[in-house]
Amino acid sequence: MAALLDLVQTLTTPHPVDRYLELVRPMLTVRDMRARIVEVDRSVPGTLRLGLRPTRHWSGLRAGQFVQVGVVIDGVRHTRCYSPVNSQHDPRRRLDLTIRVHPHGLVSRYLHENARAGAIVDLEPASGVFHLPQRRPERVLLISGGSGITPVLSMLRTLADEGYDGPVVFLHYARSPEFVPHREELAEIAAAHPNISVEMRYPELDGRGFSHDELTRVAPWFADAQTYLCGPPPLMESVREIFDEEGLGERLHTEEFVATAVPVDSADIHGTTTFSASGVTADNAGESLLEQAEGAGLTPEFGCRMGICLSCTSVRRSGCTRNLRTGELESDPDQPIQLCVQAAVGDVDIDI
Ligand SMILES: Cc1cc2nc3c(=O)[nH]c(=O)nc-3n(C[C@H](O)[C@H](O)[C@H](O)COP(=O)(O)OP(=O)(O)OC[C@H]3O[C@@H](n4cnc5c(N)ncnc54)[C@H](O)[C@@H]3O)c2cc1C
Ligand code: FES
Repeated sequence: MAALLDLVQTLTTPHPVDRYLELVRPMLTVRDMRARIVEVDRSVPGTLRLGLRPTRHWSGLRAGQFVQVGVVIDGVRHTRCYSPVNSQHDPRRRLDLTIRVHPHGLVSRYLHENARAGAIVDLEPASGVFHLPQRRPERVLLISGGSGITPVLSMLRTLADEGYDGPVVFLHYARSPEFVPHREELAEIAAAHPNISVEMRYPELDGRGFSHDELTRVAPWFADAQTYLCGPPPLMESVREIFDEEGLGERLHTEEFVATAVPVDSADIHGTTTFSASGVTADNAGESLLEQAEGAGLTPEFGCRMGICLSCTSVRRSGCTRNLRTGELESDPDQPIQLCVQAAVGDVDIDI
């Protein structure tokens, strides 16, 4: 079969065979995975819920992982990461996404305005290291804020489906009850499982932000648990601080939806970036190499723009770069790097 596909591919070169098939039947693909939108729900303000039916390539997910969804807007393909809210034991071949609509966001707004049942989107397999371990922990604390509810809801549903009997606390922060997607379902899960407790907090309404006291109140056993956290940066920082103070950093597992970059050192901003495969050069402006390439008119692949999905990986032929997440310098030649989280330090040659 692989040999036959290779032969067909050779005959259709220079375009992948899927480019021809998509003209006839977009869900009939050889190599690319896609998904058909089968349900669209805009009932929660500022949130879009999509049900997707993937092509046969879909091989499932581990609770907490994300997928990349691609859409074409004005002729340009854009991809973004979304964490399906499904249990990993969901028997349907279906993915459910819960997407916060950013008022100025390109893809979330586009989907909110245009998604309709029957439309096709590009899809990449589930990936990411933020997932429940194979051997379930004895106690589980799930903390989320805003749209960060999605990966931990997948974990909660998975544990509930497995009949997990250790204590589980699901602590979620939101602006107000009507902004919490899946609120009724969460209450139903808690009512059906005596070991699962769902705690909703609305700091702007009830004044109850995250604190050490709150943590010991809702999960007095947190030091013996594995904790999974996803939410906006201020919540992530508060939780991290407390876990670090307690010496529990290794028990805290986190996922970020937005990048937190270390500030660029002005001493790094000099020299020329050469994109050697395209014969393009640009003065180092202190931005990420991805932004620099885009500014120079190139269109490298990207997904998350925060060092998670690896879509933007390219080879640094020579020169030194700084990792914008960790601040570390790297200068080994001919190494794959992620353009979205590396900035040039002086002259650099990138193979795009
Ligand atoms: C691993 C992972 C999992 C994720 N899972 C989910 C999930 O399950 N659900 C979810 O909702 N999101 C999730 N995200 C976030 C998601 O990938 C996108 O980042 C999000 O949907 C915003 O994309 P966008 O194209 O709408 O915004 P972009 O256009 O990429 O903009 C990003 C941000 O910049 C702001 N912005 C854009 N343009 C302007 C402007 N002109 N002025 C001011 N501000 C501006 C937007 O408001 C937005 O906050 C996840 C991210 C990661 C990395
Ligand atoms: S775009 Fe995802 S790692 Fe760079």
